Order: sequence, then C-alpha cells, then structure tokens
Amino acid sequence: MSAPKPKISVIGAGLMGHGIAQVFALAGHDVTITDAVAASLDTVASRIAANLRDLGEDASAVARVRPCRDLAEAVRGADYVVEAVSEDLALKQMLFAEIERHVQPDTILASNTSVIPITAIMQGLSARERALGTHWWNPPYLVPLVEVIETQWTSPQTLAWTMKLHEAAGKKAAHVKKDVPGFIGNRLQHALWREAISLVEHGICDAETVDAVVKASFGRRLPVLGPLENADQVGTDLTLAIHNVVLPAIDSRPAPSPYLQKLVADKKLGFKSGEGFRKWSAAEQAALRSRVMQHLKSMQSL
Ligand SMILES: NC(=O)c1ccc[n+]([C@@H]2O[C@H](COP(=O)([O-])OP(=O)(O)OC[C@H]3O[C@@H](n4cnc5c(N)ncnc54)[C@H](O)[C@@H]3O)[C@@H](O)[C@H]2O)c1
Repeated sequence: MSAPKPKISVIGAGLMGHGIAQVFALAGHDVTITDAVAASLDTVASRIAANLRDLGEDASAVARVRPCRDLAEAVRGADYVVEAVSEDLALKQMLFAEIERHVQPDTILASNTSVIPITAIMQGLSARERALGTHWWNPPYLVPLVEVIETQWTSPQTLAWTMKLHEAAGKKAAHVKKDVPGFIGNRLQHALWREAISLVEHGICDAETVDAVVKASFGRRLPVLGPLENADQVGTDLTLAIHNVVLPAIDSRPAPSPYLQKLVADKKLGFKSGEGFRKWSAAEQAALRSRVMQHLKSMQSL
C-alpha cells in the first residue's frame, strides 16, 4: 500500500490560495483552506469546481478541499501549511506566530509572498528551520513554476521535502538559494519591463510596438529557449561583444521610471481605469484575458 499523501493547509482563499488548493487536491492530497472573509471561503469550492470543469479535469477532486472558518482547525494535523493572504508583512508575521501554536513540530511552513523577503516573514518563528518561501504564478493551475526559496535558517530536509512535494503535484520547482527581492522570475521579468518602459519614455517607439517586438521575436522562442541556453547557442564570445555595445545604453536606473510614476499620478492605472500605457476598452481587456488563458491552456501539454 502506498504511503498517504501529505495533508495540505492553505491560508487565504483568494486568487492564489484557491488555485494552490486546487492543484494539491487534483494531485490527491487532502486540503484544508481558510480565509478571514466569509464570502471568499463560501465560494472557494464553486470556484475550484468551475476551474476544473473548464480545464476538463476531474471536478470531483474538489471534494478533497475542506473549507474551515477557524485557522487552528485548518492547520491542525497538516504536514504542510502554505500562506497566501494579502501582501502585508505584519499580517503574515502575525499569522505564522498563530499557526506555529497549532501545528505539529515537523509541519513545514511556507509563504507565497510575491516580494516580501521570506526572512522578514519567518524571523519571529521559534523553529525557523522548517520555514521557506514557495512563489507560485497566476493562475497556479496553469503556470508550472513554483520558486522554492530558502532562508539562512531553512534545513536541507525542509527544502528537499518541499521541492519533492511540488514536483509530485506536477509543478516545476525551482530552488532559489538566497532570499533576494524578486527571487528569480520577477527579477528577470522586471529587468525587461524597466527597459520596455524606458524605450517608450525616450520616444524610441510606442507601447504597442514594444509588445509587438517581444511577441514577434524572442518571445516566440522563450518557452523552449532560456536566455542562457540562447547565449550558449550564439556563443559567449558573441554575447560579450553584444554586451560591450548594448549594456552601456540600457536603462540601469535603480528606481521606478518617472514615466511610470506620472502614469500612476495621472490615475492611468491600466485595465482598472481604462488607460495605462495605452487605452483599454472593456472588450479589449476581455479579449486579452481570454487570449492569455487560451494560450496557457494550449501550453499545458508542452
Ligand atoms: N496575484 C498574483 O498574481 C500573485 C502571484 C504570486 C504571489 N502572489 C502573492 O500571494 C498572496 C495572495 O495574493 P492573491 O492575489 O491571492 O490575493 P487575494 O486578495 O486574491 O487573496 C488574499 C486572501 O487573503 C485573505 N485574508 C486576508 N487576511 C486574512 C487573514 N487574517 N486570515 C485568512 N485570510 C486572510 C483575503 O480575504 C483574501 O481572500 C500575496 O502575498 C501575493 O503577493 C500573488
């Protein structure tokens, strides 16, 4: 008989939390989930069931997700607790202090924060060796990556167990060896966004052209060719020659662009205000969201 799958507890049933619960339930884990807002908890099962139906997955997996009003009840008996509440350091610290009071001595504790250092979130724990970061991407059930971030205190056993847990659930686990802001994915992503904004700011092209260039050129190759595979393919000598010319010209300001700051000051907030780098009608927003979901679904078999 195979060993029972680790019991999972998810704290926060919002955009990320419900998707993380869904992935573990579909992989056969019993999952508890809690949220401070009743409306969020009351709808979690129907949101997961709808996602599973939409993906053509086994919708009965939702029966393995048990919503709990009470935090202590949600984490009691769990082998692994992952927190996906609002991005607020004091809230996360307070929750982990409370969670530590109700879990077993060997329960592993993880935060899905996007940008807050894991070290800051976990520093107050009495057993910091069992804590780490697990950074999922939205939507958790369609984007494969989970960055697993160790702190100076994380034990090798905690790290290895967590990497294995996510791989076994069908995710691509990437080990982040140092707790740096942005981990790996967001550092790369925002290095690109900084230059994209700078090109518009300096009148080299408009926003539509930046996006068209990425989508019609190296963006086409990215799902199968990482930047360092690409550098090796063209040669490190050629890469060095290119960097000698290009790097001095690329934006290296260590602060948000004034162009971006002005958009925000002018309340050009993107989709939510109907205009950001460009104007967005409701229909255009819906069409873009739909294209992204269709694309991510089509990539699942890769
Ligand atoms: N949205 C993304 O693309 C994304 C990607 C990766 C990581 N993250 C991170 O994941 C976390 C959650 O983000 P989200 O987008 O799911 O946010 P969200 O606002 O959709 O969900 C957060 C949930 O936490 C709940 N909550 C707040 N206080 C709580 C408490 N004391 N106890 C229990 N639940 C509480 C809220 O009611 C809400 O349902 C954040 O740290 C965020 O930075 C988000």
